[in-house]
Amino acid sequence: MNIVVGVTGGIAAYKAVHLVRLLIKNGHDVTVIPTEDALRFVGMPTWEAISRNPVTTSVHEDVARVRHVALGQEADLVIVAPATANTIAKMAAGLADDLLGTTLLATTAPVVIAPAMHTEMWRHPATQANIATLRERGLRIAGPGDGELTGGDSGPGRMLEPEEILNAALAAVRPQDLVGVRVVVSTGGTREPLDPVRFLGNRSSGRQGTALAVAAADRGADVVLVAANVAGDVLADAVRLGIRIERVGTAADLGDAMRRAAAESEVLVMAAAVADYRPAEKAERKLTKESGTLERIELVENEDIVAGLAADRHAGRLVVAFAAETPQDEHEMLERARRKRERKGVDLLVVNEVGWEQGFESADNTVQIVAAEGVVGAASGTKRQVADAVWDAVVAARRP
Ligand code: CTP
Repeated sequence: MNIVVGVTGGIAAYKAVHLVRLLIKNGHDVTVIPTEDALRFVGMPTWEAISRNPVTTSVHEDVARVRHVALGQEADLVIVAPATANTIAKMAAGLADDLLGTTLLATTAPVVIAPAMHTEMWRHPATQANIATLRERGLRIAGPGDGELTGGDSGPGRMLEPEEILNAALAAVRPQDLVGVRVVVSTGGTREPLDPVRFLGNRSSGRQGTALAVAAADRGADVVLVAANVAGDVLADAVRLGIRIERVGTAADLGDAMRRAAAESEVLVMAAAVADYRPAEKAERKLTKESGTLERIELVENEDIVAGLAADRHAGRLVVAFAAETPQDEHEMLERARRKRERKGVDLLVVNEVGWEQGFESADNTVQIVAAEGVVGAASGTKRQVADAVWDAVVAARRP
């Protein structure tokens, strides 16, 4: 997306640097428009270096491209962070005495503002009336938060954290096409205990499944996330959104949790990496070389959870499976995906190629989405982008 970030003159401008970084990391093209005052807090070189785009505050530069209008017209989203009381008043009045002002008047894109000021200024009837005006016009107001302010005082007026502003901003441009839909997503990798200190596990981090849960919640769904051995920091976004999380360990636990949650849901997404086999016996005491009990481990097969969920599904429920493959070429990968989708009886199968360097533990992913009629979607990018492509395919498949 083309995103304009307006930065106005408040001490929280330093936090906007991190917001711009996050947007760039998420693959967006960012143009920063600081006000003259904002440059007293964070200088031009910082904005240019961090956004990788030229920065100006003036309507008199790059006049040939009619920049004061073009930036607004070309934007898919405008964020103003921090938004001072003064800027909020100017926006409410429709003033356009600098590049940010003209851009805000020229844009038809969603606008999200993150107010930052002292509590008294925020509570002032003038500011509250201006905020009400902006809200009525359809602008989104992210925050302010309640907490410590620059003068050592405390109360509402603190700018939200960059991650929270990012979430609010992306929610403004995202379709609300899963409102009220109950979905269950599994994530992570199961661990099958061998003895008190060892298990059979896999390299799944749980990032893709968590991104799926977060994306669904952003689009309005009621989400249950069944997480198998996922680290707390990976789940942080899901926790922040208030998503119900159920933690599980083994494939058997995961199967039980999925069946329970499935009873009240319309979409099931099985993104967890499930161990196909488990040790036939779980030793009460540590196995040792000395006793010779470590040389051979007898395994028994685990149930195929997603195949069971698909076989038991009621009319209207959609089941999505994942497959990580190490094929020789794309043709073989899609062939395997087609066969696996049929064998499991699922509606959609999301297939990605993995290898020693690919797929696991990385921030990015490349997938294709296979349905009965063939490939119905594809995505390459952040796990969040992949998650949105999966939900696009789910929404399309649910359409009557
Ligand atoms: N899956 C499952 N229960 C299992 C194994 C896998 O529900 N016991 C699910 C996974 O969560 C995933 C899909 O099935 O959504 C495909 O997993 P994969 O390991 O690729 O399937 P397998 O049937 O084990 O096929 P393969 O022999 O290629 O590993």
